[in-house]
Amino acid sequence: MVRYGLIGRRLGHSFSKDHFTSVFAKAGLKDHRYDLFELNDISDFPALLQKNADLQGLNVTIPYKEAVIPFLDGLDPLAAAVGAVNTIKISNGQCIGYNTDVAGFGALAGPVVGSLADAGSSIKARALVLGSGGASRAVAYVLRELGVRFRIVSRSRERGDLTWEMVDPTVIRLCRLIVNTTPLGMHPRVDEAPPLPYAALSSKHTLIDLVYNPPETKFLQYGLEHGARTIGGMRMLLKQAEEAWRIWKGDP
Ligand SMILES: NC(=O)c1ccc[n+]([C@@H]2O[C@H](COP(=O)([O-])OP(=O)(O)OC[C@H]3O[C@@H](n4cnc5c(N)ncnc54)[C@H](OP(=O)(O)O)[C@@H]3O)[C@@H](O)[C@H]2O)c1
Repeated sequence: MVRYGLIGRRLGHSFSKDHFTSVFAKAGLKDHRYDLFELNDISDFPALLQKNADLQGLNVTIPYKEAVIPFLDGLDPLAAAVGAVNTIKISNGQCIGYNTDVAGFGALAGPVVGSLADAGSSIKARALVLGSGGASRAVAYVLRELGVRFRIVSRSRERGDLTWEMVDPTVIRLCRLIVNTTPLGMHPRVDEAPPLPYAALSSKHTLIDLVYNPPETKFLQYGLEHGARTIGGMRMLLKQAEEAWRIWKGDP
C-alpha cells in the first residue's frame, strides 16, 4: 500500500481525503490510500511516523504548519523562506517539508494585484492580511514577491503590525486588498466574520478568503454588500493540492 495523509488537530470532514481519493481513482492507483491523522499535540508526530512506516507523504493543516518544522529532516528552500510547511515528502526515512500554499495563493493574487491601484496612479497597492499563522506566512511571502506593501492584523501586538482595534475605516480605505487567513467563518461557525469596519469598503476593494467551506463566507458576503470584488479559497485549495501531488510523485 502507498499511503498519504493529512495531519492537523481537528480534521472533521476533509476536502483533502475526498480530493486525493478521487485523484488516485482517476489515475487507476488502486494501491494508493489517503488517511486523516488527528494529533492533539505535534509532539505525537514521531510516534505517528513509527506506527505508519508506509507513509510517503503528508499534508499539514491547522495549527501545525510552523510547529512541525523542528520534527523534519530538511526543508525545501521555499518552505524555509516562508517559515511554514503544508506538505511533507517521506522517502528513505527522511521527511522533507515543502510549502505549496505559496503556489496556491500566487494563483489567486497575481491577477488581482495589477488592478488594485487607480489607473495611472503612482501609489502602490496596499494590503491587509488578517491573522499571523501558517497560511499567513505564505500569503506574506507572495505579497512581498509581488511588491505589495501589507500590514498583518493579529490578536497579539507581538505577532502582527496592527491589532484588530487599530483597524479603523482609514486603514480599510487605504488597503484595497484584504486577505483573511484566520479560520473565522469556517464551517461549522459560519456566522462568524473578522471584526472589521466593513462600511468603509467600496468597489475598489478585493477581498480574498482562504476559508473554502463555505464557498461564500460572511466576510465575503459583507464585501459583496459594499460592492467589493470577492474570491473564495477553493481555487487556492485545488492549486496547492495539485502542487503537493506533483511533489509526492517526484515530477519536475
Ligand atoms: N484555501 C486554501 O488552500 C487554504 C490554505 C491554507 C489555509 N487555509 C485556511 O486558512 C485558515 C488558517 O489556516 P492556518 O493553517 O494558517 O491556521 P493557523 O496556523 O492556526 O493560523 C490561523 C491564524 O488566525 C488567527 N486566529 C485564529 N483564531 C482566531 C480568532 N478566533 N480570532 C481572530 N484571529 C484568529 C491567529 O492569528 P493571531 O494569533 O495572530 O491572531 C492564527 O495564527 C484556515 O481556515 C484554513 O482552512 C486555506
